[in-house]
Amino acid sequence: MARASRDVRQVIERLRRELEHHNYRYYVLDDPIVSDAEYDDLFRRLESLEAEHPELASPDSPTQRVGAGPLEKFETVRHRHPMLSLSNITTPEEMAEFDARIRKFLNRERIEYVGEPKIDGVAVELVYEDGVLATGSTRGDGVVGENVTPNIRTIRSVPLRLHRGAHAIPELLEVRGEVYLPIEAFRRLNREREEAGQPVFANPRNAAAGSLKQLDPRITASRPLDLVCHGVGEMRGTKLPTLWAVLDAFQDWGLKAVPNRRVLDSVAAAGAFYAELERDRDALAHEIDGIVVKVNDLALQRRLGEISRAPRWAVAWKFKPRQATTRIVNIFPSVGRTGVLTPVAELEPVPVGGVTVRNASLHNMDEIERKDVRIGDTVLLERAGDVIPYVVKVVTERRTGHEKRFRMPSTCPVCGAKVERAEGEVAYRCIGLDCPAKLKQQLRFFGARGAMDVEGLGEKLVEQLVDRGLVRDVADLYALDAETLASLERMGKKSAANLRAQLERSKQTTLPQLLVALGIRQVGEATARALAEHFGTLERLMDASETELQEVRDVGPEVAASIRGFFTERQNRKAIQKLLAAGVRPAAVTRPKGPLAGKKFVLTGSLESMTRPEAQRRIEALGGRLQASVSKETDYVVVGADPGSKLKKAKTLGLPMLEEKALLKLLGE
Ligand code: IVH
Repeated sequence: MARASRDVRQVIERLRRELEHHNYRYYVLDDPIVSDAEYDDLFRRLESLEAEHPELASPDSPTQRVGAGPLEKFETVRHRHPMLSLSNITTPEEMAEFDARIRKFLNRERIEYVGEPKIDGVAVELVYEDGVLATGSTRGDGVVGENVTPNIRTIRSVPLRLHRGAHAIPELLEVRGEVYLPIEAFRRLNREREEAGQPVFANPRNAAAGSLKQLDPRITASRPLDLVCHGVGEMRGTKLPTLWAVLDAFQDWGLKAVPNRRVLDSVAAAGAFYAELERDRDALAHEIDGIVVKVNDLALQRRLGEISRAPRWAVAWKFKPRQATTRIVNIFPSVGRTGVLTPVAELEPVPVGGVTVRNASLHNMDEIERKDVRIGDTVLLERAGDVIPYVVKVVTERRTGHEKRFRMPSTCPVCGAKVERAEGEVAYRCIGLDCPAKLKQQLRFFGARGAMDVEGLGEKLVEQLVDRGLVRDVADLYALDAETLASLERMGKKSAANLRAQLERSKQTTLPQLLVALGIRQVGEATARALAEHFGTLERLMDASETELQEVRDVGPEVAASIRGFFTERQNRKAIQKLLAAGVRPAAVTRPKGPLAGKKFVLTGSLESMTRPEAQRRIEALGGRLQASVSKETDYVVVGADPGSKLKKAKTLGLPMLEEKALLKLLGE
């Protein structure tokens, strides 16, 4: 008996380590070595062993990331060392002054700095005691923050135990870092909230803060937060000479150290680093709002100390905000896929950070009222990353008295059905079952890349198909014959035949693609893939209960309810039956094997023939993977126009480079 329990203990321990390692490969290195299905398998084995042997439970098991129910409130935590803020600069002259000040203070000729991106997120501190995550807290006022440990634990890139590597594990380690929500996740979250009639987040930082401050960790777990580490508070029992060494040690311990960092040996090098990151900021997965320049030597940092709650050894060199003012010419409601009427501001066209902006979503009536936005107002716009611009505020000084308030129409501007606002919701919805605007959006979504990928199903065509009553649901697309198509405006025999061929081809799809195409609320590409890998077939997924759905990685109660709701709707089940009857065959997926299987790509600069997401999909379709940053493991660096800092690093590492032409060839063109 004792023998058996020792064996079980060992198996449990091994499973935990294995799962931790896979977590690390996936969430920290962005380079998994097993499929989601294999991971889930290991996870379930561990779960069931732990259930059979409650005496072997451990809070740092990978099964314990999402803890028990919601908290009543957050406790406060006093930081052992205050979390300071940074002084800001905006010009190269100020950078030179910063450097001169430091050299004078230390009486030195040269100072070595570390340059890092300034991540636009939420400042947090993680405390590891003997290598085990003990506390995660927000910055608060710098002295006292909130204890958000259960929420920090849901962030998959945060190790619950530090890994043992070349560096000894400190008795006490206080890690300083930034929690953020990747831009894609932010856009998805807002889209879902808009459709669900919930207030939207103004920018990724607010979304990250809102997600981190949930009393129910299950909600936090459903938001793909991430965390990068950029500094230490206290480090007891391990001595390191430089910040650079600390960041390397972080990586060694399984933490995600701030990426794209660089040693800077002069003011000029800092200037070049600034320019590079400002140019490349849109290519990053998260928002950055500047660079941080820090003295590398930790002993020198200590000598420099701080003034007025900011370290003397570091400075934030901020980018110019991507803002502009313009006038709202009109506000009109736009009807979305789920019938929500979104007020959109029509603007006097204005360039914001290199892009001409003509429209801005005002999200919903609550937003309009909160900001008191009126037709004719002059507003301040801001563009965050490649996110659609939003109205920061009204420039009330410019009001003339002729501005008009916008009122949501009581009937749908498209189908004339009643517009209703459900109890407790901010969204107004068109209740028309057959609203053509909804159907048009659905069709466009259905045919989009990443969904059924039907080339040629453009806006003008969809308009005609719906307006002429040729298509009443997505399945009707497959019943269109070439003759009917050829009779439409802007369509000839050839384009009709092409579209038919595209539709025919689209029937051989994958289950995740079909799931995306169905437009289930809260189900994006990642969730669709996880669902497909978990359930294998559409039928099994359609019959899954909410509890079963929540067994899927990253599916929380909200998402599970949305999926269940979708599949219980009679109309939806009918449409799916029709699709299957039309010959749509969603293939189950595991990780694709192909000619590029296992090959890792990094993309720098922009490509002429395709967008970045498209390149990613095509590489992945052949079994390859796109990595965010260059490493020794990278197989190919694809160099487009205006390549960024990745190119330099790739050269240093002597990695093979591909021009666009060569990539196309590899992709079989
Ligand atoms: S170092 C002593 N490095 O910016 C302060 N901060 O505006 C040390 N931030 O509160 C901060 N990216 O939360 C540092 N690479 C980075 C950062 C960074 C973002 C945040 C940090 C700080 C705020 C100051």
